[in-house]
Order: sequence, then C-alpha cells, then structure tokens
Amino acid sequence: MHKHLQTKLFKASVLVDIYEQEKSPYWIYDFDTIREQIKKLRQFDVIRFAQKANSNIHTLKLMNAEKVCVDAVSEGEILRALKAGYSNLAKADSIVFTADVINQSTLELVIKHHIPVNTGSIDMLQQLGTLSPGHPVWLRINPGFGHGHSQKTNTGGENSKHGIWHADLLLALELLKKYNLKLLGLHMHIGSGVDYEHLKSVCDAMIAQARIVKSAGHDLLAISAGGGLSIPYKEGDATIDTDNYFKLWDTARKTIETELGHKVTLEIEPGRFLVAQSGILVSKIHATKFMGCHKFVLVDAGFNDLMRPAMYGSYHAISIIKANSQQTDWFEGNANDLIPTVVAGPLCESGDVFTQKEGGVVEQRLLPTADVNDYLVFHDAGAYGASMSSNYNSRPLIAEYAIDGGEIKQIRRKQSVQDLLGLEE
Ligand code: LLP
Repeated sequence: MHKHLQTKLFKASVLVDIYEQEKSPYWIYDFDTIREQIKKLRQFDVIRFAQKANSNIHTLKLMNAEKVCVDAVSEGEILRALKAGYSNLAKADSIVFTADVINQSTLELVIKHHIPVNTGSIDMLQQLGTLSPGHPVWLRINPGFGHGHSQKTNTGGENSKHGIWHADLLLALELLKKYNLKLLGLHMHIGSGVDYEHLKSVCDAMIAQARIVKSAGHDLLAISAGGGLSIPYKEGDATIDTDNYFKLWDTARKTIETELGHKVTLEIEPGRFLVAQSGILVSKIHATKFMGCHKFVLVDAGFNDLMRPAMYGSYHAISIIKANSQQTDWFEGNANDLIPTVVAGPLCESGDVFTQKEGGVVEQRLLPTADVNDYLVFHDAGAYGASMSSNYNSRPLIAEYAIDGGEIKQIRRKQSVQDLLGLEE
C-alpha cells in the first residue's frame, strides 16, 4: 500500500480535529489543487466548468475568480452560478445552460439573464424559439457513438438520451432559421472517461457536422469539446496528456476554421478533471466484523454521501488514520500485514459497500489493520461526491470544508434532521 498523493495535501491531525468538531463525516477540498488543474487546460480559449461535479458556491467563486466559465444543467445550477457572481450581462459566455428538456421557469430564467442554451432536443429548440426568438443557442450533437468509464456515463450512441441525433442536424438548422435563433456553436460530449481512440472520432464527427452547418448556409463561432477527461483513481491508471488532448482538438478547430474562413473559439467543459483530486471524504470506523472469511469495516459515511462505488463500481483509494496514536498521522501499516478488507457504510441496504465493482460484485481491498474509532478516508472524491449525495435513510447531508491559502473554512454546514423534517411540516 502506497501513501496516496493526497496525504501530502491534508494533515492527518487537522482532519481528525475537524471530524471531532463535526462528529460526523465530511468533505474537504484543497483549492490550490483546483487552480493547478485549471492551469493545465489554459491552452483552450474557454474552460467551462461542468458544475455538476462540484457545485458548492465557494468552488464556483474560485472558478469565476480564475476566469473559468460555467455550465449549468438545471435551474438550481443557474441560480448557483448567479449567486457565485457569474453574469452573462457582464460577460456574454459566462453561463451556458445545457439540457435535453427545459421547463417554463428555467426558460424564463435563461431569457432574463441572457444565458445561451445548449439544446439537446428538437422540442427544446421549438419551445425556446417560440418564447425567445433570436436567443443564442449551441447545438449539442450526439454523433452516434459514445464512451464512458461505465455504461451509465456513456452519453453518445443510440442508447443515450443526450443531444440531437447527428442525422437531425439539418432539421435543427431549419428551426434555427424559422425562429431566428442565433447559432453560437456545436457541442459534443460523448461521455465521462473518454479515451484517445474515441477522441479522434469525436474530432472527425465535429468537422463533419461543421461542414453540414456551412453547406446549409449557417455559420458558427465556436466548438465545444465537452468534458470527460479522467484522472488516475488507482495505481496504473493513465494520467491525461492535456497537451495531446489540446492538439487533437486544435487540429480539428483549424480544419473547421479553414472551411468557414474565420476564427473559431475552442471550448472545453470538464467537471471531474478540475475538482476530483482536490477532495476527500473523511469518515470514522464504527464496527469491524468477520462474515465468514471476509473482514468488514463499517464506517459512518454511506452511499447516500459517496454514491460512485454503488452506482458505477467506481474505485476510490482508501487511507487510514489511527485513533489514539502517539502522533496522529496517515497510517500505511506494514506491507506484510495488509488485510483483505471490505469497506461498507451504515445504510440499511446491502449495496452500501465502497469496495465493489460495476454490477455490485463486492471486492476486498488490501488495507492496514483498521479498528473501531480509526478514521477512514476516501480519496479523489472532489468530483461527483457531495454533488451526488442524497438524504436516503433520512441522513442529513454532511458538511464541506476547504483549505485555501493555508486557511481552513467550512463552506457548507451539515444539515440537521430538523432541516429535513421542516420540509414536511
Ligand atoms: N458536459 C456535459 C454535457 C456533461 O453531461 C458532463 C457530465 C460533463 C460535461 C462533465 O463530464 P466530466 O468531465 O466530469 O467527466 N456522475 C458520474 C459522471 C456523470 C457525468 C455526467 N455528465 C461520475 O461520478 O463519474
């Protein structure tokens, strides 16, 4: 077992102190890590943060301060972006709304705040065009194929509900004309965890679609490469070569520029890449037991907090901090004493296991001896951690903290059960 890189970001004694104040699990992010990740993508003209990965207002404020634009996929995410200081009145491309459907109140909101809509269905184009002729739009195209780290994160092809089918592009363009909608760009996001093979195909598909736009007498100002850039969750996972990623897209952009005869803005729309490695989930061990030969360690965080292992079989590296040690520090244990361990949560549901593969196959992880009252940390949980949490089993959402410039601040208080009950009174 190797010390995870994140153990350098967070002092074990500080994590323990916060836990003992909170008396419950919590998320903590290192904001400088987010800034480092942003730097790696500066070659793109626009970095647009897919805030669904981590929509805390303080994260959004950081993104805004770093001149990172933002993608919103719901009315709530638009309101978050506005609250964090984003404004399309101040900067036209600040917020883009991406969705396959839109309801009345969201329509009114995007119109009021001049937010371009990245349309994912023909119906949406009609609804927007009827209410707001002239509105700026992107077309999210499903190129007919996709790829993801799991079937559930593949957002292209015939099994995906996302985007406008590539063969319907001409139909979409006709509607743009009919409603005088202003085409800003073409967008493709084929899934989370895109590999180079598919990346090349998306670039080619983008060029082909841009040609159709031109031949139908339309023009476009920008293309979006979508998100999907992964991070190494476990040893041996590849680290994305962002230079190469940019080069592939830049080549596609240049081909499109030659076809159109003018400059085209190149956007990228990552979620995970910017925030995953900034965050951890800190929990405490409340029970250990053997089920036959399987050692179980039960912590007080559940899949209502970190849903990724139960939902996709995702791997999150795990570290232990021993309680009551002379000096509170990350505990690697002795390489010869590592024990195959199943890590599970408190929910009344068998799938509440953090060490499992896609399809629910329980796995044992080699961990140092872990006992009741030790702290157990899930790594690389800054993306799709807190933002996917739920109140299942009537469990309140837990707190979020951030370390910024050496200062630790609470960036979301935990819910109380009363908060939940209050909604039903
Ligand atoms: N753009 C669009 C239109 C998207 O739908 C998504 C993710 C992104 C960008 C950002 O993708 P990323 O760069 O984070 O891979 N909950 C799953 C991921 C689902 C993402 C859905 N859409 C997970 O925990 O892995």
